[in-house]
Amino acid sequence: MAEIKTIEFKDNILYLIDQRKLPRDYEIFECKDFRDVDFAIHDMVVRGAPAIGATAAYGVVLAAKEFLGLEKPRFFEEMEKALEKLNQSRPTAVNLMWAIGKMRTLIEENKELETREIYEKIKEEADNIYNEDIETNKTMAKHGNEIIKQGDNILTHCNTGALATVAYGTALGVIREAHYTGKDIFVYADETRPRLQGGKLTAWELVQEGIPGKLIADSVAATLIRDGKVDLILTGADRVANNGDSANKIGTFMLSVVAKAYDVPFYIVAPTTTIDFEMESGDGIKIEERSSEELTHIDGIRTAPEGMEVYNPAFDVTPHENITGIITEKGIVRPPYKENIRKLK
Ligand code: MRU
Repeated sequence: MAEIKTIEFKDNILYLIDQRKLPRDYEIFECKDFRDVDFAIHDMVVRGAPAIGATAAYGVVLAAKEFLGLEKPRFFEEMEKALEKLNQSRPTAVNLMWAIGKMRTLIEENKELETREIYEKIKEEADNIYNEDIETNKTMAKHGNEIIKQGDNILTHCNTGALATVAYGTALGVIREAHYTGKDIFVYADETRPRLQGGKLTAWELVQEGIPGKLIADSVAATLIRDGKVDLILTGADRVANNGDSANKIGTFMLSVVAKAYDVPFYIVAPTTTIDFEMESGDGIKIEERSSEELTHIDGIRTAPEGMEVYNPAFDVTPHENITGIITEKGIVRPPYKENIRKLK
């Protein structure tokens, strides 16, 4: 098993694998304060819903460290500003808001303590979020592995691996587990335009692990599905609503439509930290729009003509009726989602 340390916190510095550079270069990005963390999330040095949540938690630790010498009212004021800044670093993955919400509550509940003690509590909470994510992913992978059959061809989208989480991964975690348990699986990895998380990051993880697979252009998926070459589809999610509607990387919805048309099982793999229990349906999920450069340029080189306008949503919502099941650390949730998701709370 190759160890990928996506996130590491040591001596009040947060070390991140710079995912903007992979697979060409393996570089570590250092965050020395919460502003660096805000930048790292926004600029996608680190990405993937659970990884964003854990990173933001350490951003709060860095803020507390920076402000612990202030008088208490100022400390709380500055902490609130830092929490808000981090909370807005990306809009779609609810793991971010979940982690920030946890930290905010912790600060609220410990107002009577000295700032250093609050800092220590925050650090402990960030470590818990970090460690629990690893455990959650491993448990989720075991549940997911129950539906994988010997020799299955699995199609996946975006990167949902160790790079998208603290370790192991969500959908790619299930794939890892199936591979480790000798299931002789084969993976089709969607390239995932425009940022190529599949082509760059999933492909990198598959090669590191020696998991057999092929990289495909996104537009190949429908043909493979029609031709019976895909036994099931596994993707992650950035936010799951109460009714099962799930936001994930742009292109996931299209995959789900084709899967339904050809009766291929379509599963979301997501920890319960990705469920937004406040969100009734996918209609309310804010979809991030990213810069036009992601489409007009490839690796800094302009490929579209000057003057061409761009529409670049980073996510879409897969309606619950297209989802066969949602694999969580608490088991596999199946329809009716409204009823069954509530039980996970
Ligand atoms: O824009 P990204 O790269 O952060 O998008 C990531 C995804 O869409 C993943 O599928 C999702 O976060 C779940 S992965 C653990």
